[in-house]
Parts: sequence; structure tokens; C-alpha cells
Amino acid sequence: MTSWNPHSWQRFPAQQQPVYDNPSELEGFLARLRRLPPLVVPEEVVRLRHLLAEAATGRRFLLQGGDCAEQFKDCTPESIEGKLRVLLQMSVALTHGGRKPVVRVGRIAGQFAKPRSKPTETIRGREFPSYRGDLVNGLHADDASRRPDPGRMLEAYFHASATLNHLRALTAGGFADLHHPERWELPGGSGEVPAYRRTLDQVRESLDFLEALGGVQRDVLERIDFFTSHEALLLPYEEALTRWIGEDSSYYNLGAHTLWVGERTRQLDGAHIEYLRGIRNPIGVKVGPSASPEHLIELLHRLDPDREPGRITLISRFGATKIQAALPPLLQAVQATDHPVLWSCDPMHGNGTESATGLKTREFSAILSELRQAFEIHRTHGSHLGGVHIELTGQAVTECTGGTEGLSEEDLAKAYETGCDPRLNATQSLEMAFLIAEMMRG
Ligand code: PEP
Ligand code: CO
Repeated sequence: MTSWNPHSWQRFPAQQQPVYDNPSELEGFLARLRRLPPLVVPEEVVRLRHLLAEAATGRRFLLQGGDCAEQFKDCTPESIEGKLRVLLQMSVALTHGGRKPVVRVGRIAGQFAKPRSKPTETIRGREFPSYRGDLVNGLHADDASRRPDPGRMLEAYFHASATLNHLRALTAGGFADLHHPERWELPGGSGEVPAYRRTLDQVRESLDFLEALGGVQRDVLERIDFFTSHEALLLPYEEALTRWIGEDSSYYNLGAHTLWVGERTRQLDGAHIEYLRGIRNPIGVKVGPSASPEHLIELLHRLDPDREPGRITLISRFGATKIQAALPPLLQAVQATDHPVLWSCDPMHGNGTESATGLKTREFSAILSELRQAFEIHRTHGSHLGGVHIELTGQAVTECTGGTEGLSEEDLAKAYETGCDPRLNATQSLEMAFLIAEMMRG
């Protein structure tokens, strides 16, 4: 392999990149971004790598979740707190039911770019450039808003930093403390997930007991780890947030703790893999129906030739009807190389359907079915599923059907708010977490 530097990706074909019409305007914004402070620090990235290595050996469980696409307009306290709250609630369910500490990673504070299946889309009979996420252009369908605007990269940086600042304040300031029941309520009352109320009571009793024994320090419970992630899609932006860290003679992407490469951009000789191979962050790789065992093994070799524990998370995303045939050959190929990967499952992106009224949706039972099969397939093959990757929100949206609330296709229009893929709402997410916790126990 040739030598790497933060811009060596530019020598390779890059999929899914917008064409900016003014190169000097673009360079001006990138130069500004390169001088701004990083959003995360290397120590945090290294800590996450250690935690993921433990998840790979089965000692922890990875919960990665958040919006399909964050939008600038949703950078509000309600939205950020809602997502953090639901991820914390889910991790209580997983830790309590699954008997493992949970590594929490949000699709948050930077998940602003989206790969699209077509470069243009037809809206009200007219063709527009596709919306590529707030990092690139605007959702509103008019020519000005759909023009790729490099100034959005700077806006994305500041929205990511405002989001992360709020997350850091909340997690350091006791938001996660189980002694504050009001912070643990579900929107609209939690009667819908009865297991949740019981679990909270049990967890609190256990804590009281430990505290009475002097075994837990209050501040340990009040501070929690929370990490950020997004898809490494828009390479000029990622390059600008890549920093040389002298102490360990390495480059880190300090725009997030971990990044993943999507199903549409993981070509072996493509720019995205070239970029990702040179940074020290843990890397996620989406693995869908188009991945062959040979491709996957070669990818692992390129991204992680030293087989470093915690470096690679493979995120399978086949769909409930395809996983049974597709996962085993890949699993076996990876096992044959002894690569210490962490396997996670994204049960969202292979289970999309369209409602009769033309809304993108996903059915709770299909999501659940893919997860069940993933756990089972790993078990049968002497492996284990060490994490899940879920699109969710803390708001009471109606984007996915099913779950105990019994959302039907007719209900979808009531609160359909996503700018991209349909997300589980808070109740569906928590319900899913209890079901996953059961699966973790086998
Ligand atoms: C996503 O995670 O939002 C996504 C686009 O996934 P994938 O690359 O797996 O299709
Ligand atoms: Co998505």
C-alpha cells in the first residue's frame, strides 16, 4: 500500500460526493475548519477502542443509536435530551436484563451527511439534486437550497459542538443519575412498557442496597461514558477534522469518537477506505447483501492489518428475509482469519418498506426478527453478537409501525418527522431494548 496522509483519499474514486461549484469558496471554509479546536480528544477515542475490544470478547455490549440524519433545526435541548434519555433507558434495560455493561455510542453530534441511491429526485414533477444531508445542502426542494453549499460544513461543525457540549454537560452533571426518577420517565408516561417500571424499581433497590453497604460512590453513578459517531461520508469535512497527535505519532479524526463506512462507499479501492485506513479511531463497517467473503476479508486487511482489538466493528444489515443465507458465509470467513472484530447488527437498513401512502417505514416485527436471527446465527457458529445499531429518536414520532402501541400504517402521518429514514420512537426503542436483553441471555 502506498503512503497515507489525510488527503491521500483524493487520489481515489470517491462515491457520493457533492460537486461544489466554487473551489476557492470551498477551500476557504476547509481552511477555517482545520484551525478550529477538535470536538473530542484522543484519550476518549482510545478509551472507546478499549471498551469496544471488551465488547468483542463478550464482556460488554455496544448500543449505538440515534437519528438516520440529524438536522440543524433539531439541535434543541428537547431533541438532544430525548435521545440521550432513551439511550440511557435502553442501556439500563440491557445491563439489567443482559447482565453486561453497555458501551453507549450516539449517532449524534455530526450525523449530518447521507448517501443517496440517485443523484437527483423528482418532486412535484420537477427534478432536483437529491438532499445529501444538512452538511451538504438543504432538504427544502428549491434550486438554491439543493445547491451544495460548503459553508454548511462550518455550520455542521458548530451544531455538532453545541450538541456535544450539551451532552457533556448532561452526562457530567448527573442527568444519568438513577436517583432522579423524573429524568427517567418515558414521554407520555411509561405505562406502555411495564417491564421498564419494574426494572427501574429493581435497579434502584439494588443501588440503595449497595449504597447502604458503602459499595458505590454517588459520583460514579452520576458520571457516565457517552460517545459520538457518524458516517464518514463527506471526505473534505472528515479530512479537515483529522489531526496529527504527536504523543502517539498518529492521525485521529477528532470530529467524533468513532466513524463508520456505509454500504455504498466501502469499495476496496475507493476514497473512503483509503481515508479510514489511516486514522486511529475505531471504525465501523456496514456489511450488507453486496459484501462477499473475499471483499470483507480484504477490507479487514486494509483497515486493520495489525488486527488491533477494538479497531473494527462489523455492522451487519441484511434484512430479516436475507440474513439467514447471507451472514453465515461472512461470519465463517472472518472466523477463519482470527480477526478480533466486534459484530454488531443494524436491523434497520435491510427492513425498509413503503406504506400505501408512499411513506418510508419499517415494521417492528421485522426489526426484531433480524435481531433474533443475528443472535442465533452467531450462537450456532460459535460467535456472539456484541452490539446493535439502531435508528431512533427520543420524541413520540410515528415513523415505524408495530410495537406495543400498535402503530399502523394509517397512524404514520400523525407525527412523521424524519428527514431521511424512519426511526423507532422512544417507546418502541425501549421495548426493543427489553427484547434484546432477553436475547442476550439466550
Ligand atoms: C445509515 O446508517 O443511515 C445508512 C445509510 O446505512 P447503510 O450504509 O448501511 O445503508
Ligand atoms: Co438510515
